[in-house]
Amino acid sequence: MRKKIVAGNWKMNLNFDEGQKLTSEIVNMLKDENVKDVSVVLNPPFPHLYPVKKLIGDTPNLYLGSQNCSDKASGAYTGETSAGMLASFGAKFVILGHSERREYFKESNELLTAKTKQALENGLTPIFCCGEPLEIREAGTHEAYVTQQLTESLFGFSPEEMSKIVIAYEPIWAIGTGKTASSEQAQEMHAAIRKHLGSKFGQELANNISILYGGSCNPSNAQEIFSKPDVDGGLIGGASLKSRDFVEIVKSF
Ligand code: G3P
Repeated sequence: MRKKIVAGNWKMNLNFDEGQKLTSEIVNMLKDENVKDVSVVLNPPFPHLYPVKKLIGDTPNLYLGSQNCSDKASGAYTGETSAGMLASFGAKFVILGHSERREYFKESNELLTAKTKQALENGLTPIFCCGEPLEIREAGTHEAYVTQQLTESLFGFSPEEMSKIVIAYEPIWAIGTGKTASSEQAQEMHAAIRKHLGSKFGQELANNISILYGGSCNPSNAQEIFSKPDVDGGLIGGASLKSRDFVEIVKSF
C-alpha cells in the first residue's frame, strides 16, 4: 500500500519565533484531529530543523524533513550540510531536485543523483522533485521532459533503493502562481511517471511508490487533486506557512 504523504516546504521563510509558533500550532491541531493514515512532514530551513524536531517530539505520523543536503558525506565543503548530520538529530526526509534549486543553484541531474545517494545511505527518504516549465507544457512535450529528469537522476539506483524514494511532480508554471494544475493534468502526469518508473523497476514496485503533487495546492483544491488514483499526497509551499490551511490539506484525503 502506497503511503499518503503531505509535506510542507517552508522555503526560505519565517524567523525563529514564527517557525516555533507554526510548528506548535500544527502539532496541536494534528493531535486534536487524530489524523492516522497520512505521513505529515515539516521541511523548514536549516536553522529551524533542530528546534522544530524538538517540538515534533513523538507526535504520531509527524516527521522532520530538510529542503536540501550535500552530495558529499563530510569534509571541507563550507556552508554545506550532510545527510548524516540531518539524520543524526532525527530528520527522516529530504527534498531534492526542487525546481528552484535546479534554476537558481544550477543543480544538475548528475548532482541530484549524488545527493539522493547520500540521503539513502543515511536513512533519509528523498522527496525527489520533477516538473516542466510553462514553455514545455505549452509545447506538449511535458511527459518526455519529466521522464528524462527521472531517467537521468534515478535510473542508476537498484529496485530496493528506488522503493525508498518519494517522487514529487511540481509543474513549474504552478509553483507560487496560484495556477494550480487541474486534477486531470496531475493524474495524467502521475500516471505517466508511475508507468515510466515501472518500465525500469517493474510495475509492482512502481505501484508502491508515493507520488506527490506540488504547485499552488491549497485547502480548496487539495481534495479534488488527492482523489485521483495516482496522486498520493502533496508537497505544499505557501499554504504550509498557515497552520490551519496546512492541516486542512492533510485532512483532504
Ligand atoms: O515544494 C512545494 C512548492 O514548490 C509549491 O509551492 O507555494 O505553489 O504551494 P506553492
